[in-house]
Amino acid sequence: MLELQTIFLICGLLTLAAMVILPVFFGAPWHPLLPGTIRRILRFADVRPGETVCDLGCGEGRVLITSAKEFSTKAIGVEIDPIKVLISRLLARIHGVEDKVKIVRGNLFDFDPGSADVLYLYLTHQAMDKLFPDILKKLKPSVRIVSYRFCLLGMTPDKVSEDKTLFLYQLDKGININSYH
Ligand SMILES: C[S@@+](CC[C@H](N)C(=O)[O-])C[C@H]1O[C@@H](n2cnc3c(N)ncnc32)[C@H](O)[C@@H]1O
Repeated sequence: MLELQTIFLICGLLTLAAMVILPVFFGAPWHPLLPGTIRRILRFADVRPGETVCDLGCGEGRVLITSAKEFSTKAIGVEIDPIKVLISRLLARIHGVEDKVKIVRGNLFDFDPGSADVLYLYLTHQAMDKLFPDILKKLKPSVRIVSYRFCLLGMTPDKVSEDKTLFLYQLDKGININSYH
């Protein structure tokens, strides 16, 4: 008979494997960010108090939680992995921002990001190509799109970080949607 400890260990390893492997098939792998990187992303996006930050594929919600807690924003995210959804809701509660952070369990391709002032994305090229250009129709004209690591095909960024890992796009600055592909 397996000991209880061994069963817990196996369950833990299976959960971790599911968190790492499953998202790859849905559109983006799991890659937790350092706290300094999260703050750099939010400063790069110039998020302001009262704005709504949206993260498609929000993982454990750490970008959203930092945004709500340190930048006084509202925050909304969608995540396909139920375990990460649970963790993100728990973390939001621990950090005292559960009233400002809303995490939806679901597929980012079905999610409506229409309330976002800042749309933050850390996905793969494949996921981005599936999202754009259709998602542009659902966004506010004033939205700022910030993508980490991957630029948007056919769109010229308004700002690029020095290390070329962050790309900012502002729709109200004359992006021609039809020129995307
Ligand atoms: C690279 S991680 C980024 C996490 C978070 N946005 C961050 O920057 O820390 C990508 C996340 O997208 C999630 N994901 C992948 N495909 C998804 C889909 N189709 N719908 C919702 N979430 C998805 C994964 O589970 C993973 O947590």
